[in-house]
Amino acid sequence: MDNNKLQGREGFGSKAGIIAAAAGSAIGLGNIWKFPYITGLYGGASFLVVYLICIAFIGVTVMLAEFIIGRKAGKNAIGSFIKLAPGKPWFLAGWTGVVAAFMILSFYGVVAGWSLHYIVKAATNAFEGLTPEYVGNLFDGFVSATFAPVVYQVLFMFMTGYIVAAGVGEGIEKYSKILMPLLLVLLIILDIRALTLPGADLGMAFLFSPDWSKINGEVILVALGHAFFSLSLGMGTMITYGSYIGKREDLAETAVQVSIADTVIALLAGIAIFPAVFAFGVEPASGPSLVFVTLPNLFNRMAGGAFFATLFFVLLSIAALTSSISILEVVVAYFIEELRMERKKATVIATVSITLIGMLCSLSNSASLGPALTFGAFGSFFNWMDKLSANYLLPLGGLLICLFVGWHLSREEVAAEIGNEGELETPYLPLFLFATRFIAPVAIAVVFLNGLGLIRF
Ligand code: PHE
Repeated sequence: MDNNKLQGREGFGSKAGIIAAAAGSAIGLGNIWKFPYITGLYGGASFLVVYLICIAFIGVTVMLAEFIIGRKAGKNAIGSFIKLAPGKPWFLAGWTGVVAAFMILSFYGVVAGWSLHYIVKAATNAFEGLTPEYVGNLFDGFVSATFAPVVYQVLFMFMTGYIVAAGVGEGIEKYSKILMPLLLVLLIILDIRALTLPGADLGMAFLFSPDWSKINGEVILVALGHAFFSLSLGMGTMITYGSYIGKREDLAETAVQVSIADTVIALLAGIAIFPAVFAFGVEPASGPSLVFVTLPNLFNRMAGGAFFATLFFVLLSIAALTSSISILEVVVAYFIEELRMERKKATVIATVSITLIGMLCSLSNSASLGPALTFGAFGSFFNWMDKLSANYLLPLGGLLICLFVGWHLSREEVAAEIGNEGELETPYLPLFLFATRFIAPVAIAVVFLNGLGLIRF
């Protein structure tokens, strides 16, 4: 496997390691916390259909495009554009990624902190015997406190920084490989329990029988944004990870496998949550609290509920961790390679600054300081970070990435990179190029203009 290694650079050790790391990045709070709650907010099954279309037609294309850029250049999100297009403004596409990384990780750390706190709650049997309404109050009480959520956020960010400081191969691969399959098994157990609740069919209908009248420009904008968020696209994560992938791996196959794994996990989470939502009389459109309120009720109905609850929040926190390290790595790899910093120093600077922004996100949910940190169209500072990054910056980054691969790189360069210099057959090349040149950019542009109300169909 030696000629598969990258010269003088850290890299992933094996095929299984790459999939684990890239899927570890993709699978996270986006699948288990965000997907169910926005599906609930934006109409259920019809939202799901739009989301799946975005994954299939745009997501897979952008992921492969990012892998190509990263592995070809062998550099971070910004450095890759500088190397492949010296003296041209393409590096701005990398910049939107680094900015998005700051914004996403700031609120992501807060939600991951909630998950850490719920490990403690579950392990101390705090949900036992509570009515569904009371489980909801418990969540609201915690999130609106001033200090406690910040403490857990800081703890989570410390863990993220600690792993990233250790470096790519050592840190990232090791955790994902064992724990993601365990998460899959646990979700299947939860699905079985949820599907045997009285009223489960209402939840399944909500998730799988579309009501097309619920689709509008905003729904499509959110679905597209979430496709990017969930697959970790549009901000250079997969460029950075692509730069660690060996020269003999099949990039297209990897992109497809990661996208499928990510989608399966989101669907399994939805199948655990929506039947329970209807069975316990939780409002499907109740927003960010959805998972934290619904699942504890489900655990209350299971034999060994406290055990399963603890295991679940441990795995959710680890899934969040394998994603958060991939977000931080975008910033750290840039600091190391372009600003010539040492890894430890780069990690400390990035982690501390993101944690500080994240504190504002957390405080914007608190009863004490929330009103001072809530303003304008998106409301709380937490929401601003979430919506601006997921709905606008990531699709914008994805648009630029597609244009770069489709129009800046030559057909021969793309063919050589996905075909491993002639080693692999690439019958999908014309389709892929067509997608990067036309389908994805036009679709993203139209969704943007429509979502912003500038055009209407
Ligand atoms: N995809 C991750 C999740 O679903 C979040 C993420 C977004 C990670 C962007 C990297 C880049 O939780």
